[in-house]
Amino acid sequence: MGPVEECCVKTQVAIIGGGPSGLLLAQLLQTRGIDSVVLERKTKAHVLSRIRAGVLERGLVGLLEEAGCADRLHAEGFTHDGTLLSYGDEMFRVDFAAHTGTPVVVYGQTEVTRDLYAAREASGGPIAFEVEDVRIEGADGPTPSVIYSQGGQMRRVDCDFIAGCDGFHGVSRQAIPLDQRQEYEKVYPFGWLGILSETPPVNDELIYANSERGFALCSMRNANLSRYYIQCSLSDSPEDWTDEGFWEELKRRIPADQAAKLVTGPSIEKSIAPLRSFVCAPMRWGRLFLCGDAAHIVPPTGAKGLNTAASDVHYLHRALTRFYETGESDGIESYSTDALARVWKTQRFSWWFSSLMHRYPDQSAFDLHMQVAELEHLRSNQAAQKAMAENYVGLPY
Ligand code: FAD
Ligand code: PHB
Repeated sequence: MGPVEECCVKTQVAIIGGGPSGLLLAQLLQTRGIDSVVLERKTKAHVLSRIRAGVLERGLVGLLEEAGCADRLHAEGFTHDGTLLSYGDEMFRVDFAAHTGTPVVVYGQTEVTRDLYAAREASGGPIAFEVEDVRIEGADGPTPSVIYSQGGQMRRVDCDFIAGCDGFHGVSRQAIPLDQRQEYEKVYPFGWLGILSETPPVNDELIYANSERGFALCSMRNANLSRYYIQCSLSDSPEDWTDEGFWEELKRRIPADQAAKLVTGPSIEKSIAPLRSFVCAPMRWGRLFLCGDAAHIVPPTGAKGLNTAASDVHYLHRALTRFYETGESDGIESYSTDALARVWKTQRFSWWFSSLMHRYPDQSAFDLHMQVAELEHLRSNQAAQKAMAENYVGLPY
């Protein structure tokens, strides 16, 4: 191997992480003529193989429109005006459109990311894959940089700002000294086993099911692609579950009339996600901004992970645009406060909805009665439904 050579490029914003937050930020900045370099640890194929979120709030749809990346979403996404909640054989609907005037859109995170990559490639914006040993330098001073290696060569990006969009396991959050950040965490004593199958969805809207055997969710990606989840033990691994075992368990957890019409088939993906609530504060350290899962995690029950990543991107994009267009740094100064105010509200909603729908190992008979009482309150009380609907479709930015 030849001598290790250091290559250096200069940009306005170095973006660590080529997931949905990093790519959306890059494209929004690009529309305002602000340059960025995106650094991604994995290959594009790997990023696109991760099956994650499926429900988009109006706010995220608006940002994708602004970034010029919403054509396929509008052509292929499904508008959902409400959702179903079941407990035992009882089922009721919360009507988002009636309570808020706003629907949500069902369109997979994989497709959002694919559209953002296509836009990035079409605009010629730089993106480096398979970067290793990423290190942040000088974020607390005026001239930050990101050092990394690629194919055995050391490289450096000098920039004005760094956006840490590298997910929960990334390096950006760790770059903030321990005595400068607080972390708040709740780990749930169960996970979600999810499968994707090329079968028609059991229902045309999502079903969130609280059953005595544990939570279940019936979701979808399109007319012939279903996404189902069941609450599982943290000690389970996907190999412990045959497809037949999964379908049988799902049928036991949803109302009998739904189970009777469930179309089953082979799974094309099967994975387990642990559930966690996590917040890092502040979300800015000097010229480093944390965005999305790098700063916070929610349990997926309220479909808020990707959507909260998008609200961070909204605040950051707005702050950086204002700085470059007017020289004003007030948006940069208030980024962490603005983003965290909304983050804590989505944390509350995700925690509340998770607590309402799951079986916990230490739940008493009293706790179980409280869940049923709360579900019956939600079923019969329009004000409670409106509050849920407002949170589900997304609080304003
Ligand atoms: P990520 O999507 O994690 O992207 C971060 C990117 O940074 C990745 O591509 C990663 O490879 C890259 N990276 C990491 N470290 C480095 C580094 N050192 N250098 C360079 N690049 C790096 N949300 C929902 O709403 N509904 C769901 O059903 C749902 N399911 C989920 C299932 C799982 C297993 C996980 C992990 C998350 C799920 N989420 C779900 C949450 C949602 O997918 C995330 O909130 C969303 O992906 C956040 O986007 P992000 O861009 O901030 O982070
Ligand atoms: C999904 O379709 O993957 C999905 C939908 C709603 C959720 C979580 C996940 O709350």
